[in-house]
Amino acid sequence: MRFKDKVVFVTGGSRGLGKALVLKFLEEGAKVGVNGRDPNSIYALKEEWKEDESLTVYQGDISDYKRMEEIAEDFVQKYGRIDVLINNAGIVNSLVPAENIKKDDFDRVIDVNLKGTFYTTLVFGRKMIERGQGRIVSIASQVGFFGEKGFLPYAVSKGAVMLMTRILAQEWSKYGVTLCAVAPGFIKGGMNESLIKKDVFVEFLSQRTPMGRMAEVGEFVSLVLFLASKEASYINGETIAMDGGMTGYVKDSFVDFIASLKKGK
Ligand SMILES: NC(=O)c1ccc[n+]([C@@H]2O[C@H](COP(=O)([O-])OP(=O)(O)OC[C@H]3O[C@@H](n4cnc5c(N)ncnc54)[C@H](OP(=O)(O)O)[C@@H]3O)[C@@H](O)[C@H]2O)c1
Repeated sequence: MRFKDKVVFVTGGSRGLGKALVLKFLEEGAKVGVNGRDPNSIYALKEEWKEDESLTVYQGDISDYKRMEEIAEDFVQKYGRIDVLINNAGIVNSLVPAENIKKDDFDRVIDVNLKGTFYTTLVFGRKMIERGQGRIVSIASQVGFFGEKGFLPYAVSKGAVMLMTRILAQEWSKYGVTLCAVAPGFIKGGMNESLIKKDVFVEFLSQRTPMGRMAEVGEFVSLVLFLASKEASYINGETIAMDGGMTGYVKDSFVDFIASLKKGK
């Protein structure tokens, strides 16, 4: 039990990747807090995990600073401290060319993925600073490194989370608070749940990675728990790509193009 009696908070843990993280932390002995906007999925999770004391759920939107402050206050009072924060909640909305992005869609992605992640980091981070100890792992995305056509709001928000991780590591290490981030590629779960029901999407997304397949949810969970654990204690300010080699990978490579020219194609 790697997290026996550790106190962990996972944002957006009611479904998808966050829920997989919550269940693994619980299995590993942690006391876990979770929030999400939809009360039904939050309370369904509470029903699913019968042990009352180890899981506390909250209805709350990470982009609502006041609500996150209340949640952090209540959670830390209940368990006495916060050891690990996982900034997992995130959204992606309209994937369109930049000139067609609606202001409200842009604002919403930035409000949740960037501002909400920062608000949560701030309210829990202050508790960690008071105690002189804490670990924060944020979920960014592979598109935060190099961007991708059609992903402007999402990619910008995730790139900013990576930068936030680096700056806070520089500022908060002296208080005993360290941070890192994960930048996943395409995972077979969470927000891709509906897409992966169709083989054509799995094939399309798979052939875009050098490994020729999407990531399993378990691979994501293993990496996040490793980064939250003592084993990763000297990894600080860094974003770890978990993308099957996709970062910086250009499928139609220049070398292949030259080779095809030589073959007269
Ligand atoms: N799946 C992938 O392939 C992939 C790849 C790269 C990065 N990621 C990142 O991984 C994280 C988890 O994604 P996922 O695939 O598990 O997505 P998901 O299935 O859509 O789950 C998102 C979770 O976050 C919660 N949430 C959304 N907005 C929230 C808000 N404003 N406040 C509080 N909770 C909120 C959702 O619950 P409610 O809707 O009830 O609030 C849900 O529990 C995200 O940050 C995402 O950007 C995912």
